[in-house]
This record gives sequence, structure tokens and C-alpha cells, in this order.
Amino acid sequence: MMNNIVFATNNENKLREAREILSPLGIEVISQREAGADCDPEENGIDFAENALIKARAVYEIVKCPVIADDSGLCVDALDGRPGVFSARYAPKGQECTKLLSEMKDIPDDKRGAYFKCTIAYIDSDGYFTVSGKCVGKIDYEEHGTNGFGYDPIFIYGDKTLAEMSAEDKNKISHRGNALQRLYDELKKKGE
Ligand code: IMP
Repeated sequence: MMNNIVFATNNENKLREAREILSPLGIEVISQREAGADCDPEENGIDFAENALIKARAVYEIVKCPVIADDSGLCVDALDGRPGVFSARYAPKGQECTKLLSEMKDIPDDKRGAYFKCTIAYIDSDGYFTVSGKCVGKIDYEEHGTNGFGYDPIFIYGDKTLAEMSAEDKNKISHRGNALQRLYDELKKKGE
């Protein structure tokens, strides 16, 4: 199995989580910046998989070695799946939780279900594949915890928000953790 993968992202949090999960499995994750791939393609796909492929292809064209890209977001039941693929653009950075809490303020407990989804695209000289992971929970009434990023302080899994969990505990149950584990399983099969 190959040991180095370039992660097509400029998001330090995604990079950190991928490293936390893949390094112990013997895969070194190199950032797009470290690999010298300076690009930020328009994410105009209709779903997570299309957007992940757009990002992975753009970097693969430059580095020509194994690349992964992650497209992820939060889908809220009461908002018909919004913000979904638009999660990164839903509100100015740092204001996503406040905005979502205000949209959800009159939604009762039993209708606050939501899930995170993460699709990872992998490309190398043989072609590409995608894997996905999901994390099902609900939206809190206020922010709790300071770990993680994005919507973590308002997403409840079990009896805690993701921002109240350690990185290690979040990685065990998160959409990205699940998708990265599936990626590893596919790469292992491919290498056998
Ligand atoms: P994109 O995949 O770069 O389009 O951005 C996905 C957006 O979804 C991020 O900017 C976050 O706002 C949100 N998101 C994705 N994964 C997580 C997570 O693990 N925790 C909290 N927010 C997330």
C-alpha cells in the first residue's frame, strides 16, 4: 500500500483529523500546500461526491501522485437537508452556529434531527473512487464546548456535542472518521 497521500484541502481542521486517523495506520498525509499545489477550484457540483472529485482532480493534475479530497457538510431534517453542500458558505466564518440556532429556535425537540456527511474522493494513476461516512445526531439549543470546528458546538451525538468530545472520541464516530476508515479499507484491498 502507498504511504503518502496529498490531501487537497486548505482546511487545517480537516487536515488534522485526517492525520490523526491515517498516521497510526501508516499513511502520511501531505497538505496541498506542502505539495506545492496552489489551487482553489470552484465547488459547483450538485452533491458531496461531485465536489470532492472536483477538488481531488484539480490537485491531481498538478501533483500526479495519489490525492484525496473531502467534501462534507451538515444536513438538517427540519430544513429539508440544508445547509448540506452549502455548509461552508451558509454564513460568514465563525457565525454558522449562531445563524443555524436562530433558524432552529422554534423547532421542537423531536424535529431537531440532523446528520453530517463526508465524501472522500481518491485519485491515482489507476483512476478514482469515492467513499462516504455519516454521523447522525441532533441540533442543540445553544453552543456547548470549544473543541473541533464549524458546527461542532451545536451538533449533539449521544449526550454531548462534538465540541465537547476529545479529538480521539470525535474521530471514532464522526462522518470524516468513518469515511477515512473506509478509504483505508479500500486502499488495503487495492494494495493486496
Ligand atoms: P467543504 O467540505 O470545504 O465544502 O466545507 C464543509 C463545511 O461543513 C465546513 O466548512 C464546516 O462548516 C462543515 N463541516 C464539515 N465537517 C465538519 C465537522 O466535522 N464539524 C463541524 N463542521 C463540519
